[in-house]
Amino acid sequence: MVDRQPSFLVLQLCLVLVSVIITVRNSKLAGAYGEHAKRKLQYQADSSGFINIDCGASESYTDRETGLVYELDTKYIDTGKTHEIDPDFLSATYHRQQRHNLRFFPEGKRNCYTLKPIQGGKNNYLIRAVFEYGNYDGKNQTPGFDLYLGVNNWTRMSSAMGMREIIHVPSDAYIDVCLVNTGNGVPYISALELRPLDNSLYRIPNGALQNIYSLDLGGNNDIRYPEDVFDRYWDPYNEGNWSVMSTESALQSSADGSNYKVPDKLLQTAAASKSASVPLSLVIERGSDPNSTCYIYFHFAEIEILDNGSNRELQIEVHGVRNLSSEPVTLEYLMPMTKTSTGLPMSADEEISFKIYASEGSNLPPILNAVEVFLYIELPDSPTNFNDAVVVLGKSESKSENKNDTFAAKNQQFTYSDIVKITKNFEKVLGKGGFGTVYLGYLDDTEVAVKLLSSSSAQGYKEFHSEVKLLMRVHHRNLTSLVGYCIEGTHMGIIYEYMANGSLDQYFSGKHEGKNASILSWEDRMRIAVDAAQGLEYLHDGCKPPIIHRDVKSSNILLNEKLEAKIADFGVSRIFPIESGSHVCTGVVGTAGYLDPEYCSSNRLNEKSDIYSFGVILLEIITSRPVILTALENTHISKWVNSMLAEGDIRSIVDPKLSGDFEINSAWKAVELALSCTSQSSSERPTMIEVVMELKECLVLAMTPNGEGHPGNKSKGPRRMLSVDVNADEFSPSAR
Ligand SMILES: *[C@@H]1O[C@H](CO)[C@@H](O)[C@H](O)[C@H]1NC(C)=O
Ligand SMILES: *[C@@H]1O[C@H](CO)[C@@H](O)[C@H](O)[C@H]1NC(C)=O
Ligand SMILES: *[C@@H]1O[C@H](CO)[C@@H](O)[C@H](O)[C@H]1NC(C)=O
Ligand SMILES: *[C@@H]1O[C@H](CO)[C@@H](O)[C@H](O)[C@H]1NC(C)=O
Ligand SMILES: *[C@@H]1O[C@H](CO)[C@@H](O)[C@H](O)[C@H]1NC(C)=O
Ligand SMILES: *[C@@H]1O[C@H](CO)[C@@H](O)[C@H](O)[C@H]1NC(C)=O
Ligand SMILES: *[C@@H]1O[C@H](CO)[C@@H](O)[C@H](O)[C@H]1NC(C)=O
Ligand SMILES: *[C@@H]1O[C@H](CO)[C@@H](O)[C@H](O)[C@H]1NC(C)=O
Ligand SMILES: *[C@@H]1O[C@H](CO)[C@@H](O)[C@H](O)[C@H]1NC(C)=O
Ligand SMILES: *[C@@H]1O[C@H](CO)[C@@H](O)[C@H](O)[C@H]1NC(C)=O
Repeated sequence: MVDRQPSFLVLQLCLVLVSVIITVRNSKLAGAYGEHAKRKLQYQADSSGFINIDCGASESYTDRETGLVYELDTKYIDTGKTHEIDPDFLSATYHRQQRHNLRFFPEGKRNCYTLKPIQGGKNNYLIRAVFEYGNYDGKNQTPGFDLYLGVNNWTRMSSAMGMREIIHVPSDAYIDVCLVNTGNGVPYISALELRPLDNSLYRIPNGALQNIYSLDLGGNNDIRYPEDVFDRYWDPYNEGNWSVMSTESALQSSADGSNYKVPDKLLQTAAASKSASVPLSLVIERGSDPNSTCYIYFHFAEIEILDNGSNRELQIEVHGVRNLSSEPVTLEYLMPMTKTSTGLPMSADEEISFKIYASEGSNLPPILNAVEVFLYIELPDSPTNFNDAVVVLGKSESKSENKNDTFAAKNQQFTYSDIVKITKNFEKVLGKGGFGTVYLGYLDDTEVAVKLLSSSSAQGYKEFHSEVKLLMRVHHRNLTSLVGYCIEGTHMGIIYEYMANGSLDQYFSGKHEGKNASILSWEDRMRIAVDAAQGLEYLHDGCKPPIIHRDVKSSNILLNEKLEAKIADFGVSRIFPIESGSHVCTGVVGTAGYLDPEYCSSNRLNEKSDIYSFGVILLEIITSRPVILTALENTHISKWVNSMLAEGDIRSIVDPKLSGDFEINSAWKAVELALSCTSQSSSERPTMIEVVMELKECLVLAMTPNGEGHPGNKSKGPRRMLSVDVNADEFSPSAR
């Protein structure tokens, strides 16, 4: 299969003919060879763990070529539509039934297949996506789109047919293969396949290998499963000035202990140069980013019986660098051997070139049996070794339930230059904090908030990445959703949904820009409290393991244009130092006034610390006073409220700007709740579930004026419109 890159398209057509003939021949022969059938059965058992999806197919079937059963894709994806390709193209897609139909995605920027291999995460997999446009839409226009592996950009697909393969170790049990619309046509896909590989093979730290080509030198037909137990696709390849060698003898176990399981059939042929003085050379135009890195796997086996006990000795030159210091490769008769070139930068002329020389003094021409070339794809979350296989972030279990396609559709990794574009070159600052600046941005005409973290140490990189990945799966209506992130060198950024009315603290301090007349009504306050409490409740009780926010404060409660509240910055504060006033008690982080006093002494962080902080916010909501009352010798707000309460005076506690326009029972309940949340001892504090329940009662009370304090029925006006409630003077203050 040579359609891994467009430049091979012509060759592809020739191969179509070749492989059709070969298939016919094979199927005739199959019956004659009992051996063949036996091998197939044995391979069948080995194939456990293969995932074979025919995208857009209407029924499952057994593939004639491989004997593999292809299933429908409906189990893996909910979105998109299916279509058959134009019958005119059927002949060109040869016998591959998978290419006869496809799934296309006219809606949504990003559509994902979710695979859950039975071997679980932290295992090595070959993932293959197959594309055959076949003018299914009658437009005769090849779409271009990006393929993503989870949040990571894998590759671009822009030819009318092709295949993309990647070898990858997923960090958790799910693999999302996503098609991302880039505005160049409707993404589509014909087939998706997953093959487990041996964990010792093709392993690259922090990255994945994208196959560019796998060539069977000297071969004459393509090879895949069942000959190749991993179902790698091998294309025959020859050049006119090579001589071809072949053998019928079976290969033995590898000479170097490696277990690449390269099929015998493949190693039984090789290309040799005409003489020992001529190197075997291969140049492939790649046309990719010259700065990208490639990995080459050379597969050798001596297949010629040499007299005199002599051995073929070879040296490998890649991109013009012949590594003379390395040991020559000595081939042994019928013993496979694999040599890997590690992380070579692509040559400046965007070519991949290598030469195999005969070692000095060796008079046998150099040979090569097979070669694989890969492009390195950086995937920062790929585990680098399997010993940390048990360390899981803990989200994988709850992931599938929390996952929402519409949310997933927005998750994305952005480049720094995207960030520059999105923020219109950092045009408008929304806010500033200790660990970054927040800018206004536009993503497809939707306003977003872009938080750029101030350059932090490279150490934070991995943590940031895995944390953001985790947070993108946490989804609740009362949490600001993460739209995407950027991680590029020292640039780290997070894109959130935009909350038009800013943070809650601005309403207390009177800082709220241009809106100095707006005062939140009691009912609005209670509604905001309920919203925020529900967000926190979800983090504590809806996530397994629970997520502790650690920096609950009114500036992290954001309001949208309808004054609905959401919690921001959850989780991210766990990896970045917390802003202002973090030195309340030595060694712990948190914001002055909101910090659990018990945490200061125990240094132990738990949900109850968030509840303390939430209680402080509730006191702010009730009183509109600063958390630390500087005018009263830096008294903490909870202390002050407690002392006022001792005098039984609720009206002096509630924000005087409300001019007494609040439901008194609701206020009592809220004050009591806030004070229990701010209990010095964590065991006396309620849980978030209890807090939510109590606050809902406060809200119900606030919405049903009991009449006692109100002469006449109060017109509330549109529920969320503040201006209506501001002019409370029309009504007599509640007097009780
Ligand atoms: C994704 O990667 C491909 C291949 O490197 C590249 O062409 C494409 O521009 C990338 N897409 C984005 C959004 O960066
Ligand atoms: C073999 O042929 C290729 C092109 O087909 C050419 O680039 C190369 O120089 C030739 N090598 C020799 C030794 O003739
Ligand atoms: C390749 O890397 C060099 C040096 O890092 C840089 O100057 C150049 O712009 C890069 N080229 C591309 C195409 O990214
Ligand atoms: C045996 O080795 C010698 C020296 O390497 C060589 O000249 C001779 O041709 C070899 N014999 C055969 C049969 O290849
Ligand atoms: C050359 O080979 C030696 C031994 O295998 C290795 O240590 C060295 O890094 C190689 N050099 C290059 C430039 O690949
Ligand atoms: C997923 O999102 C859709 C559309 O917003 C919504 O109707 C649905 O309830 C959501 N599902 C979950 C489980 O949140
Ligand atoms: C804010 O208050 C100032 C002075 O009190 C007033 O001049 C201004 O118009 C107010 N702004 C708005 C948007 O109400
Ligand atoms: C909330 O945002 C809307 C839309 O941006 C604005 O019209 C309204 O005045 C804001 N309300 C408050 C109380 O700031
Ligand atoms: C918060 O969640 C509750 C239900 O869980 C919902 O009624 C409310 O509208 C949500 N708030 C926002 C801002 O979405
Ligand atoms: C006042 O409230 C009562 C009971 O809720 C209702 O029956 C009455 O119609 C209301 N009066 C006005 C003027 O809205």
